Amino acid sequence: MFENAFKDKVVVISGGSRGIGFAAVKGFLAGGAKVCFLSHYEETGAAAMAALKEINPDYEVFTRHIDLCDFKAAQDLFKEVEAKWGKIDVLINNAGKDSSTWITKLKQSEWDDVVNLNMKGTFNMSKYAVPYLQKTKGCIINTASVAGVYGTPTGLPYPASKAAVIAMTKSLAYSLADRGVRVNCIAPGVVETDLVKNLPKFAKDSIGDTIPMKRMGQPEDIANAMMFLASDAASYITGVCLQVDGGYRPNNQPK
Ligand SMILES: NC(=O)c1ccc[n+]([C@@H]2O[C@H](COP(=O)([O-])OP(=O)(O)OC[C@H]3O[C@@H](n4cnc5c(N)ncnc54)[C@H](OP(=O)(O)O)[C@@H]3O)[C@@H](O)[C@H]2O)c1
Repeated sequence: MFENAFKDKVVVISGGSRGIGFAAVKGFLAGGAKVCFLSHYEETGAAAMAALKEINPDYEVFTRHIDLCDFKAAQDLFKEVEAKWGKIDVLINNAGKDSSTWITKLKQSEWDDVVNLNMKGTFNMSKYAVPYLQKTKGCIINTASVAGVYGTPTGLPYPASKAAVIAMTKSLAYSLADRGVRVNCIAPGVVETDLVKNLPKFAKDSIGDTIPMKRMGQPEDIANAMMFLASDAASYITGVCLQVDGGYRPNNQPK
């Protein structure tokens, strides 16, 4: 679909070792990009690298595992990517963490974990990527969630942090538009990845039939939207939150 669309483009993707991020890594590489992807754990990054080399040993790709909230680690990473490939065209802030804990049982540490990764990680990576993206007239794509649009019945830090991702996307798009950098986000509905496999059973049981298109999303559905927003076809699009959700709306859900 995006054959050669990203030839010579340099793409950095967080949360690229599994799920939606891994589908995006595969998609951008197939479209001709050079990709640096990030994971939480060294082993998952290595496993993803091995899988990519199986697909095509000539792919230009490498992986790192950094703390996405660490200012110096982010600075060092972008320096390393520019030293290797000369520039950065696309940053995809995709790493994220869910939480379904009921409010009275929610510990401060769980709040901090989820909000830090989803919100501060997105801010930190964007802050240090912007100088590079201004040079290439590049773009940022954030992974939000429909939870950030509609809220959720449990798990406060997740919808709160994803709503913040949407607000950061719109604000950053506004402030960077005249510098030539586009910023958009995607709000996936329910996508069949490890993150969903770990939801409580009651949540999973109610999902399939409540989606108007009668199926969960696949990681590739979201990766395709990322590639569209990163492509020249989206050159006049900035500040949007694109819902990719099979028509999901919370009032389709039983209480
Ligand atoms: N799946 C859904 O239904 C759904 C719906 C709406 C939005 N989303 C959003 O889509 C994004 C990707 O979700 P997914 O379902 O593909 O997730 P996933 O399959 O659980 O993969 C999560 C990715 O994020 C990385 N990651 C997790 N915690 C991290 C941390 N503390 N620091 C750095 N990296 C970390 C993981 O690295 P390791 O492999 O090393 O653990 C992995 O690459 C998230 O932002 C999520 O909130 C997902």
